[in-house]
Amino acid sequence: MIEFFKKKMKRSKWGIAAYLVARNLKNRLKYTSGNLEDEYGATHQKLTNEESVHYIEEVFKDYLQYAKLNPPDLIDKEVLEIGYGDNLGVALKFLASGVKRMVCLDKYHSVRDSFKEKNIYQILRESLSEDETNRFDKVLRLKVESFELDPHFLKVEHGLSIENRKELKALGRFDFILSRAVLEHIFDLDLAFDSMNDLLKAGGLLIHKIDFRDHGLFTGCGHHPLTFLTFPEVIYRLMTKHSGGPNRKFLSYYRKKMERLGYHCEIVVTQTLGESAKSLLNEIRRRLCTQFQELSDDELSINGIFLIARKSNA
Ligand SMILES: C[S@@+](CC[C@H](N)C(=O)[O-])C[C@H]1O[C@@H](n2cnc3c(N)ncnc32)[C@H](O)[C@@H]1O
Repeated sequence: MIEFFKKKMKRSKWGIAAYLVARNLKNRLKYTSGNLEDEYGATHQKLTNEESVHYIEEVFKDYLQYAKLNPPDLIDKEVLEIGYGDNLGVALKFLASGVKRMVCLDKYHSVRDSFKEKNIYQILRESLSEDETNRFDKVLRLKVESFELDPHFLKVEHGLSIENRKELKALGRFDFILSRAVLEHIFDLDLAFDSMNDLLKAGGLLIHKIDFRDHGLFTGCGHHPLTFLTFPEVIYRLMTKHSGGPNRKFLSYYRKKMERLGYHCEIVVTQTLGESAKSLLNEIRRRLCTQFQELSDDELSINGIFLIARKSNA
């Protein structure tokens, strides 16, 4: 009987919310005690080495394709990758392509396996051209069990979030600032963008892939994909702020933000709710919190975007 109620609770919207609040509180206590080790950026933990290399190649290709960059545009550039997670493969691809300096920044310390990482980098290296291999070898030295980085080319910063405007100034300035599946996890996005604005050179580019979905919070238990928009902000933050939940900022936020910063911006929609969008929205619209009721059907149907924004040259 107790098991039956436990299962039922776990499946109900408020049952899930209660679980998320408890998990969020536990994470908060863990982080404030100084333990920054986390699994939520550990993308590669679940992949085979070949799948990891494929993921890295795809992420790298996406950045170039959406930002309309060609390999020569990378030569001698300085690049900041925010929220790189548990693998430096994307950074290594940029460096092998001629980028002069790369900084990888992450708020947490993703669970890492240096032996697995080394094997991934080894396979990645084998796919490179001669020029790329020469550049790769300057940055990373493969050892039997692990690897060694030259921080002159590739600097890794853990425990530092993009909102840490003051501390980040010491990193210098960059031609490109990029991220994948990171901005949706940042709750003080205004501060994060101010910080990126400080760090970006005049004429530099922001290239961010952003996912607007609920990251399985409720869809993982079979709920409507917009259930996470039915909670008032205060309760929602209690459920998600320290657990990697999405911040519920949508396309119009990014457009307005880029306008305010005076950036020239292009937004490409990468995924939507699909053909059932209209009926899904009809089903839930009146239950959404006021701030989301104001958004159009078109905006609420968008599941993910690529944001490409250029800082003015002035
Ligand atoms: C979902 S993971 C994505 C990891 C990687 N980009 C990938 O594609 O596999 C999000 C990453 O962003 C990092 N992160 C979250 N908030 C951040 C912040 N404010 N500043 C820097 N990194 C952050 C997390 O620690 C995590 O490693």
